[in-house]
Amino acid sequence: MQLLQNVSLKPYNTFGIDIPAAHFIEVSSVDMLPAVTDATAGMHRRVLGGGSNVLLTQPVTGAVIYNNIKGIHKDKEDDNHVWLTVNAGEVWHSFVMYAIANGWAGVENLALIPGTVGAAPIQNIGAYGIEAKETIESVTAWHWEDKRFYTYSNFECTFGYRDSIFKHQLKDKVFITSVTFKLNKKPSFNTTYGAIEQELHKMGITELSIQAIADAVIAIRTSKLPDPKQIGNAGSFFKNPTIPIAQFNNLKQQHPNIPSYPVDAQTIKVPAGWLIEQCGWKGYRRGDTGVHEKQALVLVNYGHAIGSEVWQLSGDILQSVEDKFGIVLEREVQVW
Ligand code: FAD
Ligand code: EPU
Repeated sequence: MQLLQNVSLKPYNTFGIDIPAAHFIEVSSVDMLPAVTDATAGMHRRVLGGGSNVLLTQPVTGAVIYNNIKGIHKDKEDDNHVWLTVNAGEVWHSFVMYAIANGWAGVENLALIPGTVGAAPIQNIGAYGIEAKETIESVTAWHWEDKRFYTYSNFECTFGYRDSIFKHQLKDKVFITSVTFKLNKKPSFNTTYGAIEQELHKMGITELSIQAIADAVIAIRTSKLPDPKQIGNAGSFFKNPTIPIAQFNNLKQQHPNIPSYPVDAQTIKVPAGWLIEQCGWKGYRRGDTGVHEKQALVLVNYGHAIGSEVWQLSGDILQSVEDKFGIVLEREVQVW
């Protein structure tokens, strides 16, 4: 175990922000955790996976615990399902490909989401009509203060849209070490998200399979989301806001083309990308930071942006959306 000092986090975040961490320690096995806990006593500990949902705005004063715990274990199976415990440092997309190769369904719509398996429960990752919570059976985590492991059931994780207990009561209190998934041996395909049907049609797919769905999702994502290896970004910077139906009806009178998705009898979801585009930000550039030209919900780093510049731009976007539409956007990325 090596507790390093003053380590640049540039290679460890997909925004490509160059900021140092005062202390940095890589964890490759759960057996290391008691010693890591002692070595970082009194420090603010933050776990880092793929760094694909963080914006670093200032030097990190405490300890960054870099998660590199690998391994996948099949716990049990029956005629219909298989239960897998996947260690937190596995790459999410590799896990999705592994499941597909074995014919196990449930995560194919979540192909190509960057980051680690351990971070998937944090914001209950979602895309193309599916959220991680639909396949997560339980989450196991090391509690820094109690110095022991806990297993949280799906119910206890209190998953919501881009939300869970790990962003609230348990924020920076635990290190998620593994996630147990229940996958289906007999798939029920989810192609409800409009773009998937169109893409499958374009690809000439006549017989649905989990591989075909993943291929369609990968094609859509590649066509509109910037590859962090080429342009720094952390995916959607803001959440899609949910507003009361009365407020939506008022907006619709002024903006008849406003897109929306029903949530429940009282509320409706509006795509933040549309709101931001309407405010004129799409493709905007200020120095080395900006708004992606194909997806207004994605803020980018063209090379040498610093975190506070991205933060400032996000604040200006937030203000303009509030001024024009009366909707206050919420940031999705974790700001350090
Ligand atoms: P990190 O960025 O390293 O960490 C994120 C947060 O979780 C931090 O607060 C960190 O402290 C905490 N954390 C991470 N791992 C652990 C752990 N083991 N224990 C405790 N806390 C931990 N997200 C979606 O939901 N849907 C998408 O479609 C999507 N598309 C994306 C596309 C692109 C191009 C990019 C760059 C990002 C996208 N994201 C998407 C966001 C991101 O991929 C997810 O949030 C992902 O789960 C982050 O994983 P990570 O390992 O990189 O987490
Ligand atoms: N739109 C615009 N202009 C834009 C972008 C979007 O008008 O520049 C409008 C369009 O009406 C479009 C709609 O927004 O039809 C939805 O756009 P898209 O399908 O690209 O999805 P999104 O709502 O922008 C969400 C997630 C993504 C996820 C996709 C696919 C959030 C915050 N974002 O984006 O997740 O991949 O749906 O399911 O919910 C992430 O969380 O990092 C992320 C990328």
